Amino acid sequence: MPDATILYEKREGVARVTLNRPAVLNAINMRMRDELWEVATAIRDDPGVRVVIFKGAGDRAFSAGADISEFGTAPSYVESRRARHQRDLWGLILSLEAPLIAAIHGYALGAGIELALCCDLRIASDDARLGLPEVGLGYIPSAGGTQTLPRHVPPGIAMQMILTGDPIDASTALRHGLVQRVVPHERLYDEAESLARSLASRAPLALRLAKRAVVNGLELPLAAGLALERRLAQRALAGGGAGLIEA
Ligand code: COA
Repeated sequence: MPDATILYEKREGVARVTLNRPAVLNAINMRMRDELWEVATAIRDDPGVRVVIFKGAGDRAFSAGADISEFGTAPSYVESRRARHQRDLWGLILSLEAPLIAAIHGYALGAGIELALCCDLRIASDDARLGLPEVGLGYIPSAGGTQTLPRHVPPGIAMQMILTGDPIDASTALRHGLVQRVVPHERLYDEAESLARSLASRAPLALRLAKRAVVNGLELPLAAGLALERRLAQRALAGGGAGLIEA
């Protein structure tokens, strides 16, 4: 579709999801949310997807967040809450079993940084600016940010970013562990591709089980996490690492 707000491509086990509204800094409008939902569902149901890269079209932004021109346009508060519950887009992305990489350049604000926080690894270009401006708009982050951010950076840093809304630059994000690598702008996609290819060359079952052990284990007390690891390790051994996760 030529005017699609999401571009999707899959090659050799690596899927690429591009937020494609560069004229408005890839602001996430309702249509983009719908298309992201479709793509995330396709990724969930496609065992051939080994690794996913999320990125933003154009030179200026990964995404400047929710489309502010749509604020207040939902028919009612109750209706928008019902729609959110029926379609938990961010929950769906967080539940994907394949490792997800966010390649972040320029602005990553609001739902933009929150999408990146649903990913497992974040690479930023040196021009990245990451922030959560919602409170300044009389709102609070609602794509998971109040919960995901403190799981990636120290709680005080998360609190500072959420309450002040002040964006941080790439090197500060690296220092706090919000991103795992910072590269020159022109190297961003090469680095993301190379990381994705390297992960895609790993045994698929082992890759997914290892992600599951870390993601699910973070929610558990240590003893339960260790028991989870034992179960998943047995499954990896039984599957020889090469198969896919059964339900
Ligand atoms: N929703 C809708 N449109 C947006 C947008 C958003 N979140 N962010 C940027 N845009 C649009 C602008 O309206 C502008 O459109 P126009 O050219 O038709 O006027 C275009 O993208 C370029 O943005 P502009 O503001 O001119 O660029 P800038 O370099 O001066 O500022 C930002 C960049 C990111 C600082 C600024 O666009 C901004 O603050 N955006 C809103 C960020 C935000 O609050 N997001 C979270 C919402 S919860």
